[in-house]
Amino acid sequence: MDANGDGIGDLNGITAKLDHLTELGVNAVWLSPCYKSPNIDNGYDISDYRDIMDDFGTLDDWKRMISEMHKRGIKLIMDLVANHTSSEHFWFKEARKSKDNPYHDYYVWRKQIPNDWQSVFGGSAWEYNKATDEYYLHSFAVAQPDLNWENPAVRREMCDVVDYWVNLGVDGFRCDVLNYISKDFNTGLQFNGPRLHEFTKELFGRKEVKHIFTVGECSMGTDKIVDICGADRDELTCIFQFDHFDVGRVGRFGIRSHKIDEIRDILVFWQNFTQKNNLIYTLFTDNHDQTNYISRLGNDKEYRYECATMFAAMFYLLKGIPFIYQGQEFGMPQPNYDDIELFDDIETRKFYNSVKGKMPNNELMKLINFGSRDNFRHPMCWYNSKNYGFGVGDTWLALHSRGGEVNLENDKASKKSVFEFYKKIIDLRKASKAIRLGAFENITVGNGYFAYLRKFDDEEILVVCNFETEREITRLPEWGYLFGNGNNRQPNGKYAPYETAIFKK
Ligand code: GLC
Ligand code: CA
Repeated sequence: MDANGDGIGDLNGITAKLDHLTELGVNAVWLSPCYKSPNIDNGYDISDYRDIMDDFGTLDDWKRMISEMHKRGIKLIMDLVANHTSSEHFWFKEARKSKDNPYHDYYVWRKQIPNDWQSVFGGSAWEYNKATDEYYLHSFAVAQPDLNWENPAVRREMCDVVDYWVNLGVDGFRCDVLNYISKDFNTGLQFNGPRLHEFTKELFGRKEVKHIFTVGECSMGTDKIVDICGADRDELTCIFQFDHFDVGRVGRFGIRSHKIDEIRDILVFWQNFTQKNNLIYTLFTDNHDQTNYISRLGNDKEYRYECATMFAAMFYLLKGIPFIYQGQEFGMPQPNYDDIELFDDIETRKFYNSVKGKMPNNELMKLINFGSRDNFRHPMCWYNSKNYGFGVGDTWLALHSRGGEVNLENDKASKKSVFEFYKKIIDLRKASKAIRLGAFENITVGNGYFAYLRKFDDEEILVVCNFETEREITRLPEWGYLFGNGNNRQPNGKYAPYETAIFKK
């Protein structure tokens, strides 16, 4: 929410809306970067790690926000961008001046382009710097130079940043692309390099900060996950695992047909794997980099309510830590625009410019609407008022194209309220040891649905999620009905498309 009328959401806006989180049952907030930044990548290009972006407010506003959160029993998780800084950061401005500048070795330089590493946003990851006649590495945008973690001074700086915020009271960090901090030039590994564990431990294994919660944005194989999240390792509490985002797409913008069964199989694999290895799993369907799950993988037209609630039951009653992204709690679908000027995201614009002219524009806009990271960054739709209640000024990004139909006010007034369903899910998690701590067991037979059990001592819960088409589900234990999104009050029976129901022994 925008509190000062300049059209940009801000910290005071968050503070003003904390009661919404309390009502939902949320007890921790992860904030995307709000540090000083030229903001070419939504704040993931930091120019000062110890201060707040002007657009979002001041450090005093931040202090008021965290104290209001703590008063309500809400913890705060800040985003830590450790792999790169902004090219406007003092370190880089110095580093690029000359080879003997004390900050030069804070970044990764090569006389010649040494390999074909690519920027995640497209194009070569190497950029020429005239003053030193060298190339620097940027695994993301040109204006996001990678830090050189091999340099102990860089590691010390980042530890200081962590300590600074921990001293100000933050409860944890979400660690942006953390697995990029170690690279291996010999084997060509741009991420998940050999010193990742050592560096992570240096950052978070110190006794001053060991108690804080950490979740790493790390795409990695099962072996590495066991190492980085193992309870005895002093590295991370948990990571975000992204396999379930590859369903239904190729890369960011390529559309692929899919069945929800693929998502179930991925979840079952990771539930079993994390359970067996005693790891904490994270449960999420959406975030600031993803397109809305219900639109991309479900049906956000005639079944929007059913899809939003079925996915909620499918994910958030599993074993792990649930993360909900703003708007998800009332079933916000994907917006649609036919004009590229309504998109801000750097990755989206780069993709558009690289494909423009090679296919009809309406086809290209279809891909943009399908894949753009802006999909979930539009101003939050609160009420049926100006700017859907986001604030009085012209908004920094286009208003959501379906905001008049789907917003929090409409949802709460509806008999089919996604928000009410989310509340039930969260209440159940809080009340039930089986959901929070219990074992997971998949009892699905065949395809087209997902049925699983959660057990702790003699408490047992059954979650049934039907997928795309109506079907008869049988062979389930006949337990008592808790809640659901449709008509089934008995476990065995005919389920409508996207129907879900939860039962207790
Ligand atoms: C992470 C962030 C993303 C950002 C990128 C570079 O993937 O989630 O938003 O663009 O890192 O920092
Ligand atoms: Ca503002």
